[in-house]
Amino acid sequence: MCLTSPRGHSSLSCRTLPVVVFMVFVLSAAVLTCRALFSHSHQQRELAKSVCLHREKWYMTQAANSRCRADASQMTQRLALLKDISSALNKSNTLHWLCYGTLWGVLRGNSLLDYDIDGDLCVVNVSQNALARIVAAVGEGIRYAPTYTSLRVWRAEAIVEITLYEFTELADDNTVDTLVNLSGWTGPYVSRSCKIESFPSRLITRPLPSDKLNEVLFPVPREGVEMQMHVYPDDWHSIVLPQHCV
Ligand SMILES: *[C@@H]1O[C@H](CO)[C@@H](O)[C@H](O)[C@H]1NC(C)=O
Ligand SMILES: *[C@@H]1O[C@H](CO)[C@@H](O)[C@H](O)[C@H]1NC(C)=O
Ligand SMILES: *[C@@H]1O[C@H](CO)[C@@H](O)[C@H](O)[C@H]1NC(C)=O
Repeated sequence: MCLTSPRGHSSLSCRTLPVVVFMVFVLSAAVLTCRALFSHSHQQRELAKSVCLHREKWYMTQAANSRCRADASQMTQRLALLKDISSALNKSNTLHWLCYGTLWGVLRGNSLLDYDIDGDLCVVNVSQNALARIVAAVGEGIRYAPTYTSLRVWRAEAIVEITLYEFTELADDNTVDTLVNLSGWTGPYVSRSCKIESFPSRLITRPLPSDKLNEVLFPVPREGVEMQMHVYPDDWHSIVLPQHCV
């Protein structure tokens, strides 16, 4: 629709307006497409990074300037944060267990590894209700991106990484019955660059056993070190320190 301007520019505006509108449309479409493409590949890179992290082992990717010995107050804060999150997950009846480096700590001496940088919990089928309880327990320090396959929670100096799993029913000829798959493990980039982490579901069949981490009880996978044999197939039998801490 064209409005006639009293100054007599109406015919010019009427001809240029549709052209301008069209060009603005084309430009915004181009910008939006570029942004979508960029953020998609960026997201995939981020995803690949987080997905590969555990395969590449956290102790190998640790920054060279990260501490090799957490101080006592840091350990206390990390333990308290793990406890609060575990308690929130218990309340929503969410299946969870200590995993990765924190599970190594339990298996090797029932205490947090002092060269680890965070606490690790793994959960299956995390619900909105469970998330709400975690938020209520820890306040603002939480970042959730479903494609990153994990939820990062922090309070003061403590960080806890919650890895999110979901079940994939998959019949297998081997001893492995049902496999568990990380949430969000999709996309060609990921499957090309990393192997999928999986373990037999019997290791996390309820009720899970509990074990002590610095005198606090937490759920752990069944069968002791078996879980770590699946998660760290190449070096589960040896103690590996971050390179700069050796
Ligand atoms: C959560 O439940 C497990 C298993 O029932 C128990 O061992 C643990 O003490 C509970 N954790 C907290 C923080 O309440
Ligand atoms: C998780 O969700 C899947 C699919 O809905 C279901 O089959 C499975 O039993 C659930 N597992 C747990 C532990 O809640
Ligand atoms: C993991 O899930 C993907 C997509 O749902 C599926 O294609 C793949 O086979 C699963 N892998 C394992 C090892 O369960």
